[in-house]
Amino acid sequence: MILAIETSCDDTCAAVVTRGGHIRSNVISSQGVHDRYGGVVPEVASRHHLELTTRVVDDALARAEATLDDVDLVAVTAGPGLVGALLVGVATAKGIAASRGLPLAAVDHLQGHVAANFLEPEPFEPPFLCLVASGGHTFLARVEDHEGFTVLGSTLDDAAGEAIDKGARLLGLPFPGGPHLEKLAAGGDPAAFAFPDARRVGGLDFSFAGLKTALLYATRDLGEHGTHARRADLAASYQHAVVEQLARRVERALAETGLERLAIGGGVAANGPLRERLSGLAREVKVPPRALCTDNAAMIASAARYAEPVAFPGYLGLDAYATSARGA
Ligand code: KG4
Ligand code: ZN
Repeated sequence: MILAIETSCDDTCAAVVTRGGHIRSNVISSQGVHDRYGGVVPEVASRHHLELTTRVVDDALARAEATLDDVDLVAVTAGPGLVGALLVGVATAKGIAASRGLPLAAVDHLQGHVAANFLEPEPFEPPFLCLVASGGHTFLARVEDHEGFTVLGSTLDDAAGEAIDKGARLLGLPFPGGPHLEKLAAGGDPAAFAFPDARRVGGLDFSFAGLKTALLYATRDLGEHGTHARRADLAASYQHAVVEQLARRVERALAETGLERLAIGGGVAANGPLRERLSGLAREVKVPPRALCTDNAAMIASAARYAEPVAFPGYLGLDAYATSARGA
């Protein structure tokens, strides 16, 4: 079995997954301490990972009814993400692997979001187009095999999740804003406000910065009371603009690449209206369970199934990295 650890942002995650891609456990401990700051504070995240990681690993093993004797590969997210946060996971994974003489697989977080689609019970096989939209990244990828992907387009400014979190904050919602915005939007009219659709951004790239500014201006025009009275309509229209931009790029990418199958990943892929909008776009659409879209360690184990493991002691010098070298 594979024991995987993911600590790239503010969720402390560990999972036990079989070589065949069956999830035996998938534990996520959300820190919930960043809300008062309106975003993730890197130093606070690292300290909490330090307190939580061993407990979360123990919990993942217990829930899988396994011990370290059952583990033959340790996997860990090496980047991209907050380096201080990643280092806690990397150090923990090295420690566990080294103490047992086990091999270690260093996994790319973005490959993890793609690889969530390879997990049982309904593994989705390449080739397919994959939309990954999270708090830190938003890109479209051509996935030809289990090992990697080619970026076809990515955001020129904010990630979709970042735009959603900033918009949610403008509407007075807690962090992270995605689920709260979705809830508020459910009672509003998506056509109430016309937010910009980044039509000027060509190709398969995305842009969300103008959207956020448009929401800011709309709330200024409405004033405090007006904004409060129209909160649901603002949320619905804003969410609609994000979903439509993502969906239109997906449509364009499917047409341009000739790919007929679509998969999604990243925290924003947990959004109900987006899942619904995308599910009709291709001949076959894989919409993973929400818990596999937001950050988790099962997706890291899934990617590790196809990664090149490093034998002890080769991984002792393994380092974390902040940014992606893939152009995503
Ligand atoms: O993939 P993820 O868990 O972490 C990163 O790698 O960034 O994505 C987190 C992002 C946040 O911006 C969060 O607000 C957004 O995913 N998100 C959602 C929903 N659930 C999480 N956005 C829209 N609707 C949701 N239901
Ligand atoms: Zn992520």
